[in-house]
Amino acid sequence: MERLIVVTGATDGIGLACVKGFLAEGCRVVGIARNPAKAEKIASEIKNDRLSFLLCDLSSVRAVRELGLELNRLYGKDGIDALVHVAGAVATHRELTADGVERTFAVNHLAVHHLTELCLPLLKKRPGSRVLVVSSRAHKVGFVHFRDVSLKHGYWLLTAYAQSKLMNVLYVRDMSRRIDPGLVSFYAIDPGLVDTGIVAKTTSGLERWIWSWRRKAGDPAGVPAGHMVNIALQSAHAGVSGKYWRNGETVRPASRSGAVKTMNRLHALCDGLIARALAGSDRPEKP
Ligand SMILES: NC(=O)c1ccc[n+]([C@@H]2O[C@H](COP(=O)([O-])OP(=O)(O)OC[C@H]3O[C@@H](n4cnc5c(N)ncnc54)[C@H](OP(=O)(O)O)[C@@H]3O)[C@@H](O)[C@H]2O)c1
Repeated sequence: MERLIVVTGATDGIGLACVKGFLAEGCRVVGIARNPAKAEKIASEIKNDRLSFLLCDLSSVRAVRELGLELNRLYGKDGIDALVHVAGAVATHRELTADGVERTFAVNHLAVHHLTELCLPLLKKRPGSRVLVVSSRAHKVGFVHFRDVSLKHGYWLLTAYAQSKLMNVLYVRDMSRRIDPGLVSFYAIDPGLVDTGIVAKTTSGLERWIWSWRRKAGDPAGVPAGHMVNIALQSAHAGVSGKYWRNGETVRPASRSGAVKTMNRLHALCDGLIARALAGSDRPEKP
C-alpha cells in the first residue's frame, strides 16, 4: 500500500526538504502550511500529484483541532503512516496567541501534543506507524516553567525556545510509555545546525545578525531531512520508540527529559490548556 505521510512546516527549510524526500521515496505527502500562497507556489514548482496541502496556523488551538478533524475525515478509513512535526518558531519578543498562550510554546509544543492526539486513531490503523518530532540540542539548556509556562516573567528567546524543545523530548518519551510501540512509535529528532531562515523570520537586532552568520556553518536542510525520511520509513527503525536521534543515530538527551513526573505534569498541563481554549473559557492575558 502507498505510504501516506503528514508533514508540518512543509513550506520551508527542513520541512520542505522532508516533503521532497518522502515524494522521492514514492510516498503520498500531505503538507501542512500556514501561508496558502507559499503552498501554492511550492505545489506548482514540485508538480507531483502525490503532494497536497492543508492549511493551518498551528499557533491556534481551534485551527489545530479543525486540521485534526479534516485529516480524520480524509484519511479515517485507511489511516496514515507517519506524522512528522517540523514546524517551529523562535522570537525576540514575547507574544501571546488568541488562546492566551506564549507563541513559541503554542507552535513548537502545544500543537505537537494536540495534533498527535487527534491523529492517533489514524496512525493506529497502519502497522509500524511513526511520529517524528523535531526538537533541538537547545533542549539541554531548557526547563519547563510550570508556574509561568507563557513566561510572563523573564521572557528571553532562548528560554522560550529551549523550554519548547525540552517539552518535545519529554513528550516523545512520555508517549513511548503510553502507546504500545507495536501500534505507534515516537522519535525526537535533533537536526543539528541547519542553514534555514528560521531565526530571521521573527527576530530582530543582534539575534538576527548573529543568525545571519551562524547559519552559514549549518548543514543544508536536505541532510537532516534525509535522516528523518529514513527514520520514518525504514523497517529497521520500527518500534524503536522514545529515543532521541541525531545524524540518523540514537544519542542521549538531557537527563531531565527522562523524569516521569515532569512528563505527566506536562501532559496534564497541555490537555488542560487545550480543553480551556476549546471551551472558550480562557481569559487571554494582556501582553
Ligand atoms: N535551523 C536549525 O538550525 C534548527 C536547529 C534545531 C532545530 N530546528 C528545528 O527544526 C524545525 C524546522 O525549522 P527550520 O530551520 O526548517 O525553519 P523554517 O525554514 O523557518 O521552517 C519552519 C516551518 O514552520 C512553519 N511555521 C512556523 N510557524 C507556523 C505556524 N504558526 N503555523 C504553521 N506553520 C508554521 C513555517 O511556515 P512558513 O514557511 O510560512 O514560514 C515553515 O514552514 C523547527 O522546529 C526548528 O525549531 C532547526
